Amino acid sequence: MSVLIQNGRIVTAVDDYVADVFIEGEKVSLIGKNLKVAADKVIDATNRLVLPGGIDPHTHFDMPFGGTVSADDFASGTKAAAFGGTTCIIDFAVQTKGQSTLQALDVWHGKAQGKATIDYAFHMIVTDMPDERLPEMRRLADEGITSYKLFMAYPGALYVDDGTLYRAFRQAGENGTRICMHAENGIVIDEIIKAAVKDGKTEPKWHALTRPTRMEAEGVHRAISIAEVAQVPLYIVHLSSSDALEEVKRGRARGVDVIAETCPQYLFLDQSYYEREGFEGAKWVMTPALRERWNQDELWQGLKFRDLETIATDHCPFCFKDQKELGKSSFTKIPNGAPGVENRMSLVYNGGVVSGRISLNRFVELTSTAAAKAFGLFPKKGTIAVGSDADIVIFDPDRKETISVNNPHTHHMRVDYSAYEGFVVQGFTETVLSRGRVLIEKNELKTEGGGQFVKRALCNALLR
Ligand code: URP
Ligand code: ZN
Ligand code: ZN
Repeated sequence: MSVLIQNGRIVTAVDDYVADVFIEGEKVSLIGKNLKVAADKVIDATNRLVLPGGIDPHTHFDMPFGGTVSADDFASGTKAAAFGGTTCIIDFAVQTKGQSTLQALDVWHGKAQGKATIDYAFHMIVTDMPDERLPEMRRLADEGITSYKLFMAYPGALYVDDGTLYRAFRQAGENGTRICMHAENGIVIDEIIKAAVKDGKTEPKWHALTRPTRMEAEGVHRAISIAEVAQVPLYIVHLSSSDALEEVKRGRARGVDVIAETCPQYLFLDQSYYEREGFEGAKWVMTPALRERWNQDELWQGLKFRDLETIATDHCPFCFKDQKELGKSSFTKIPNGAPGVENRMSLVYNGGVVSGRISLNRFVELTSTAAAKAFGLFPKKGTIAVGSDADIVIFDPDRKETISVNNPHTHHMRVDYSAYEGFVVQGFTETVLSRGRVLIEKNELKTEGGGQFVKRALCNALLR
């Protein structure tokens, strides 16, 4: 099968020009002006942006968490991602304590195989790493799992102590792989929570009020210090606050290989959402919590001046009815997480490019290229170039949509609310190709399934 995309404005992290893209099989085979080639399918992209497919390096599909399971599985979640212009996700396999990480990987392959519509890779969440298990980390790398997430948060669940952090960091560094860090001091936060609950403070807003930004900053500082000593490239996930960003800047200024991700929720939503009527604030109970609004300007500055590297969603949806409601009696029982995988590209285009905060090239870098480079997917993915996978999004820069659970164009996620209900965005995904297959054409699903596991290369700093 061959596809010719004609006359679009091709934008990568570094280029911006009008040309045709010819795709043969799964790869881009030719790029040029007025290509004279015979194609099985021709797509007119006049007045459209032709972008590398979005890469979301932080999703949680089909994840048991908070006494329930995230509402999107690999079928519904990857389809929704495709509608939103994302053609590759990196999800998290979870090692339960005492389990072999290789077994955990098998479980996650079982969840995704045959279900995904877009390509996918895995990080491994490490909850347990005694010395005798360390060799597994090299075997994981051989299987294409070249990054590992560890948690300073969630004591009694995913939390690991500093000794485990150090052992895993050392091994990951030796293997040429990367550590992803959920950086928040969960031990201190748990003490603050206990005191609040004792005082009868159980409404959703107390989720944010018991998680000070200083405890996120402390976690970032500690992770950077340990990574510096252990000599491993570090990636701070879902960075939410100015305090935490300051620690990243400090680490980078002294030469530590640390990069950080933020998420649309921290760029567009704020702590006031927890004040909504009744229990509604539970929709935004996620960790880290939403912050005071002024933090948003600092995060945008970080994105602009490259102290923040990527924008991921941390898509971890739970239905308001039945799932979020598990925490009606206390915020401590509300499953943590919110949906967003489908809305990322439009939100960032609108809030970043249309608002004049970042350039179009930077938009592509933040939503695709930088994640590909950080996680061993580049140049197979994350750009439009001869030989790269034909993961391509045809994007209408002028089209406006109102994000809503009731708008069939903006909501394919299997969750009963939208975290961005009523947001008007300019810039919308129209047509999506994944390895040359037309998944979505003019907002209509054409192909389902066919997504493949991507074995990632090492995450060496020199590759960025
Ligand atoms: O609230 C969140 N972020 N849920 C998903 C798990 C995590 O910490 O990333
Ligand atoms: Zn996390
Ligand atoms: Zn997460």
